[in-house]
Amino acid sequence: MDVGSWEWETGNLSSVVFVVFAVNKNMTRIAWTNDIHLNFLDDGRVIRFFKSIESQDFDFLLIAGDIAQANNLKKYLHFLNGLISRPVFFVLGNHDFYYSSITKMSREIEKWVLDFENLFYLGMGFDFNLSDKNSPVAEVFRPPTQYLSEKKSEREMIPDQLKSLRPHVYKLSEKTGLVGHGCWADGRVGNYFDSDIMLNDYMLIGEYVGLNKNKRFKLMNRLGDMSADYFRKYLPLALSKFDEVIVLLHVPPFKEATWHEGEVSENGHLPHFSCKAVGEALVEIMEKHPDKKITVLCGHTHGEGKCRVGDNIFVITGPATYGEPKITGFLEV
Ligand SMILES: [Fe+2]
Ligand SMILES: [Fe+2]
Repeated sequence: MDVGSWEWETGNLSSVVFVVFAVNKNMTRIAWTNDIHLNFLDDGRVIRFFKSIESQDFDFLLIAGDIAQANNLKKYLHFLNGLISRPVFFVLGNHDFYYSSITKMSREIEKWVLDFENLFYLGMGFDFNLSDKNSPVAEVFRPPTQYLSEKKSEREMIPDQLKSLRPHVYKLSEKTGLVGHGCWADGRVGNYFDSDIMLNDYMLIGEYVGLNKNKRFKLMNRLGDMSADYFRKYLPLALSKFDEVIVLLHVPPFKEATWHEGEVSENGHLPHFSCKAVGEALVEIMEKHPDKKITVLCGHTHGEGKCRVGDNIFVITGPATYGEPKITGFLEV
């Protein structure tokens, strides 16, 4: 693809804007990776890793979360923008919020990426009321039109107004669309109350800090429900436009996709490794679209595996090793 000749077309559909990249060939080649945890590397190795990606043949790069941590994420996104010449779509994983909060980071990155025409943050828009940790109030998923009117003064500062139209559904090829969301483990798979697993999330992510086990469970449920709401809203829209949709997540949406060392994760880890709410939403939506299919790309468990759910949901979980980031794979769509 000639990156210098992108064409942007916009068209409103139920207040969602599709951005269409001009792809001047029949097949689009997607590179994807997950859990690269760049903060485990020195900058020289990060740059070499991105240059090795850049040398590959692909049209779009997808990153399924856990890029780094909140205190260094922007530095690595800067590297990405400078070293990868093609569009990069990413979701954030739990580690990307460490030393900050979900509200602060998602708001900050949502706004910050607007200055980078190559970077696209999918599933943006979490908004918690931190003053009440017991029952976080979510005002999620502002439609782009509302977003624009709220931020008029900022929008006027951006020379190309289209830069501020960051939609939720992207076209990757004639038949394939893209939607994504970080997706949060919701505690509902496995046995949460018997699990003594204490992820760093619960000590390093603002919304979780200080919550007891019961309140943590409620927050996990809420986060999972918000993730599911996102897909209930945007996946049908993507399916109305495309025969196939790539769904980019961080957390696996099904127990069967929680691969770890060649096996599905055990009961203690499952509440922290899967999002039942999103899995149920995907099944419900895809049962209504038997002639369409989705490919889910996810990570989080650091184990590699594939699974099929129903007739039209295929899930690939990417492997990862701290300090050894790799391209997970390529897809032609
Ligand atoms: Fe990870
Ligand atoms: Fe993770």
